[in-house]
Amino acid sequence: MPPEDVEKSEALARQLIGGNRQLYTVEHRYQTKAGEPLWARTTATMVRDERGRPLYGLVMVEDISERRRLDQLKDEFISIVSHELRTPLATVTGAIDNMQSGVLGPLTDKQQHYVDLISRNAERLNKIIHGLLDLSRLESGRARVDRRQVSLPPLLREAIQSARLQTAGRVTLEESIPEGLPAVHIDPDLMNEVFANLLDNAARYARSRIVVRAEPFDGQESVRISVHDDGPGIPQEDLCRLFNKFEQIRRPVGSGYKGTGLGLPICKEIVALHAGKIWAESTVGAGTTFHLLLPQGAGGEAGGERNAA
Ligand SMILES: Nc1ncnc2c1ncn2[C@@H]1O[C@H](COP(=O)(O)OP(=O)(O)OP(=O)(O)O)[C@@H](O)[C@H]1O
Ligand SMILES: [Mg+2]
Repeated sequence: MPPEDVEKSEALARQLIGGNRQLYTVEHRYQTKAGEPLWARTTATMVRDERGRPLYGLVMVEDISERRRLDQLKDEFISIVSHELRTPLATVTGAIDNMQSGVLGPLTDKQQHYVDLISRNAERLNKIIHGLLDLSRLESGRARVDRRQVSLPPLLREAIQSARLQTAGRVTLEESIPEGLPAVHIDPDLMNEVFANLLDNAARYARSRIVVRAEPFDGQESVRISVHDDGPGIPQEDLCRLFNKFEQIRRPVGSGYKGTGLGLPICKEIVALHAGKIWAESTVGAGTTFHLLLPQGAGGEAGGERNAA
């Protein structure tokens, strides 16, 4: 096992024995005696006596090399196909732009209608291709992650400001973000994508109000950020599907918006790269809250504990 993975495993084991964790699951690279690479998933928990003292540990090690190999093939396939689709799509978009701007002569109403339809769909296709490329980069560990100590209030306020422009007064955006929040060790550009998607979703569903809250959690160990909207909510049985690729539970009535269903899976990958957690709580008819837990220190480096989200 690489030395940095040994350190992380030891840190997790210490947390487990100390009672700071009930269970952990990690995926690590190993090398067999013959020098072959091997991927294993380790799940560990602690059995304790009635006074909470550790009795013995239960550890399950699974060989996941084949799944990893298939994942890699799938990622490469998605990456190649997405790249190949980008060039012809750029030509289509360019031609439509020319038609829309009138460079190729005036259009009848009917032609205008169809050109607009093609334009909207080309834009959507473009968004799907970019989403798939982003996701495949994140999943394969090829994404550039530039983590540093970041103060959250300015980052959150900037995201909220953009959301205000997007909602154009249709909903109010309230915030409760204390200045004294502990700094977090994150890639601000990647995390900004997470905030932007959560706010974009909330803005699409909120009836009149979105509330963004940030607070220290677990002492000063991590920061919890939540984005609440007073929209229609998500049925309990659908919550577990939210972070699946291409999942769209239901579209807001009459908005005509067709998302890609890739926003939340991308959020989940980004949060996992930061060893954080993301989840949703919802009450039908009352609204939805997305929660985000970001560890304060440099505890979860990229490619570390990927199952946290
Ligand atoms: N705040 C919310 N209230 C109700 N449903 C939501 C909310 N946020 C997400 N969803 C549901 O989860 C689905 C997936 O969200 P996700 O962000 O992954 O994709 P999207 O928003 O549809 O597309 P994109 O992010 O590409 O614009 C949404 O289509 C919607 O059905
Ligand atoms: Mg979205």
